Amino acid sequence: MRAARDALLAEIRATVRDERVLAAMARVPRERFVPPDLVPYAYENRPLPIGYGQTISQPLIVAIMTEALRLEGTEKVLEVGTGSGYQAAILAELAREVVTVERLPELARRAARTLAELGYANVRVYVAGEALGWPQEAPYDAIVVTAAAPRVPPSLLEQLGEGGRMVIPVGGRDLQELVLVEKGPRGVRKRNLGPCGFVPLIGPEAWPPGHGPKGQNGAER
Ligand SMILES: C[S@@+](CC[C@H](N)C(=O)[O-])C[C@H]1O[C@@H](n2cnc3c(N)ncnc32)[C@H](O)[C@@H]1O
Repeated sequence: MRAARDALLAEIRATVRDERVLAAMARVPRERFVPPDLVPYAYENRPLPIGYGQTISQPLIVAIMTEALRLEGTEKVLEVGTGSGYQAAILAELAREVVTVERLPELARRAARTLAELGYANVRVYVAGEALGWPQEAPYDAIVVTAAAPRVPPSLLEQLGEGGRMVIPVGGRDLQELVLVEKGPRGVRKRNLGPCGFVPLIGPEAWPPGHGPKGQNGAER
């Protein structure tokens, strides 16, 4: 397992240079966030199924998204799409507090339990309500969305504080661009970080019902 983890980190290091992100990825045991039968594959650089048609994202994508947020340790971060809780654990290593929202209660419960067992006291896991994100605790210094949206959701832009950064996959239901959104005093700036393929966001500001998920292949570049 140790050798597999070192090999994965070496692979990520070819793209992601932020030492704090790499150290966080080295500390968080990904095997604790995957189903028991998939533990042997926990350090492969690919998404894995976590049940309910959802996935734990590809480690390289997690690293790229986290690096783009430029966390320094003082931030309050929102994650939309808790899934297994793995990305939330990486964020918890690098930020002051993490609010993470999941629409599937079973996944939210499981992720909360794993995060608590690993001692992450600075993460709050919520089951998504009617609104996208978690406006109750806005503004956030950073937002990461780990499901794909047809466009940058205006309500998440509202929940982002001034000077804040958001990373979100935007595009079609199967293939998207990873977009970094920066909210400055003179408006919003967007930059593409590369192609990706996330499972779709479900609910408000996503695709209308009937345009349900089809190729659920998780977060792959
Ligand atoms: C690719 S998975 C997330 C992977 C996760 N970040 C991890 O580290 O394991 C996307 C997740 O987003 C959730 N999701 C989809 N739409 C959502 C919404 N509107 N609000 C909250 N969660 C949502 C899905 O149920 C799924 O668990």
